[in-house]
Amino acid sequence: MEQRKILVTSALPYANGDIHLGHLMEVIQTDIWVRLQKLQGHDCVYVCADDAHGTAIMLSAEAEGITPQQLIDRVNEQHQRDFADFLIDFDNFCSTHSEENRILSESIYKAINANGHIARRNIKQLFDPEKELFLADRYITGTCPKCKTENQYGDNCESCGSTYSPSELINPKSSISGATPIEKESEHFFFTLPAFRDMLKQWTRSGTLQDAVANKLSEWLDEDLQEWDISRDAPYFGFEIPDAPGKYFYVWVDAPIGYMASFKNLCERTDYDFDAYWSAGSSAELYHFIGKDIINFHTLFWPAMLTSAGYRTPTAVYVHGFLTVDGTKMSKSRGTFINARTYLDHLNPEYLRYFLAAKLSSGIDDLDLNLEDFAQRVNSDLVGKVVNIASRCAGFIGKGFEGKLANELDTPELLAEIQSAKNEVTQHYNEREYGKAIRLIMALADKANQYINDKEPWVIAKTDKQSIELQQICSTGINAFRLLIAYLKPVLPAMTEKAETFLGIEPLKWTDIDSLLVDHSINKFKPLMTRVETDKIQAMVTATQQEFEAQQEAENKPMEDEISGLEAEIEFDDFSKVDLRVAKITHAEHVEGADKLLKLTLDIGLDKTGAPLTRTVFSGIKSAYNPDDLVGKLTVVVANLKPRKMKFGLSEGMILAAGPGGEEIWLIEPHSGAQPGMRVT
Ligand code: MSP
Ligand code: ZN
Repeated sequence: MEQRKILVTSALPYANGDIHLGHLMEVIQTDIWVRLQKLQGHDCVYVCADDAHGTAIMLSAEAEGITPQQLIDRVNEQHQRDFADFLIDFDNFCSTHSEENRILSESIYKAINANGHIARRNIKQLFDPEKELFLADRYITGTCPKCKTENQYGDNCESCGSTYSPSELINPKSSISGATPIEKESEHFFFTLPAFRDMLKQWTRSGTLQDAVANKLSEWLDEDLQEWDISRDAPYFGFEIPDAPGKYFYVWVDAPIGYMASFKNLCERTDYDFDAYWSAGSSAELYHFIGKDIINFHTLFWPAMLTSAGYRTPTAVYVHGFLTVDGTKMSKSRGTFINARTYLDHLNPEYLRYFLAAKLSSGIDDLDLNLEDFAQRVNSDLVGKVVNIASRCAGFIGKGFEGKLANELDTPELLAEIQSAKNEVTQHYNEREYGKAIRLIMALADKANQYINDKEPWVIAKTDKQSIELQQICSTGINAFRLLIAYLKPVLPAMTEKAETFLGIEPLKWTDIDSLLVDHSINKFKPLMTRVETDKIQAMVTATQQEFEAQQEAENKPMEDEISGLEAEIEFDDFSKVDLRVAKITHAEHVEGADKLLKLTLDIGLDKTGAPLTRTVFSGIKSAYNPDDLVGKLTVVVANLKPRKMKFGLSEGMILAAGPGGEEIWLIEPHSGAQPGMRVT
């Protein structure tokens, strides 16, 4: 068989968040597929990277008081550790913030530009005048123009569901600085996507996409195809566009180029030839595994960019649905937005690999991780069926035959039947119908167990521990186990490794399914997998909830925190940046679901135009004050604190109070002669 050259990618996770079960579903799906190709002897390379650019990462770093580079380095290490612990076998994992990617991004842009596929024109956008930064929709909040609900995001209302442009919001605010955004014009660069309509119509229908995906795209291809805005103005964490100072590539330009860059980085360390995989007309295969939320980036912009720049297009883009937990979207407060590390603190990664494999199909439907089903499935299939076969037979071989398997097998038809499923299993895996592959494998495991039940080796052993018949039956059982474990190897690499040690064999390959093990010494059986304990699942959910609450509290800076000694010294300049104002509490209310918080509305005087200035603040003083007693009081507020999005809404400042906590918290109250808005110095 000719050795195929295959390059595979998973979507690049953003470098400002933890890896969670949703990401894992994607990389596990990809990893199983890659492992299958490798086991079959194909030259298959699997690369990934962190997606390190964009405003969100810039702001996260700023909030932590570190540089974006420090943030992405730290996260990269964590991501790699998480993936490794889930046995994801990347051949390379880089970052999009790399020299390789900068060079490739610049050269691709230059080629596209030289081909006349870049247009420039001025556009108007909302701009934060304090932070001096253009605001993406998600950084603008305000009152919904339709239903008047406060604190809604830039482009849609969570309360009434209507969509609008951020400039239609009533009383819009930058959620970064709290300032009122202004409209500002600047020049943007556009990729002329409509020029690729015909190319894309053809490409999307040439077997590259699942039908459901191609159908979705044809709507866009027939009508909505628009030029794509590929530039962002400084400040932005990314790559500057060549010959355009202050203009940066939008993160989604250099993100997919990051696939190439990660491969390029691998080529620099190995014999792989970059051009053999990426040049137009390359015979290598290129597959991207992605979630359904990022289809247009991979199936419209990306193939069009590649074509314009003279590279090959992907062989196929494989889209999967979203992971839900217990029937709903993963939720932090319910404890189902589970991070990779939290999972690993409690459970074996192969449980999840197996469960997902058992449920995955080639479609784009969502996949539900029902936590009860999860335990039940792993226990009954892996422990109850597969491992059971080995544990039922191994002891007799050890005791009666010094670990030696028989020369001849008892019921070779059973083994022939398992072997004959090879083509079907391979095809299911190849087509990403892992659920079908697993069902078939488990049906064969049932047959093997039934065989052992029928033969009752324990009855024979009672009369003759060394009977040839006993050895042949148990050797047949062990062989069935070996074949089943070979089929499961793409899904369960670590358990397979233990099984290989037990069987005393070299690492299994796909061709080994065609052979059997006779006259061969095996080792002492050790349990290959333990049962899922349901209290561990509960502990994982509880830990997730606690992480969430701790994060909420940290964002709410609880006052019970004892201050031991004094804080580090700050410069006078730092202090003078704090804008302390007298504030009058005009409204105070309980916050549903919050143990510590009150929601306060503050009058802080007038702005330059004479319009009243108000702030909404969530304050952890519920244990000490009744809302009704607060209304009318004067206090002091940090009026220029960056607004923080909390679980219950946006908090636009912080009021000052002192005390050990509980009922003993006292608001700082200025003399009653003070007026709202007076500066406190
Ligand atoms: N950085 C972009 C991808 C750039 S690729 C050139 C991105 N990152 S992400 O971190 O938000 O998502 C990474 C992948 O994880 C995407 O394919 C996304 O669909 C997938 N998933 C994120 N949450 C998911 C679930 N809950 N379920 C399944 N996959 C999910 O998008
Ligand atoms: Zn609304």
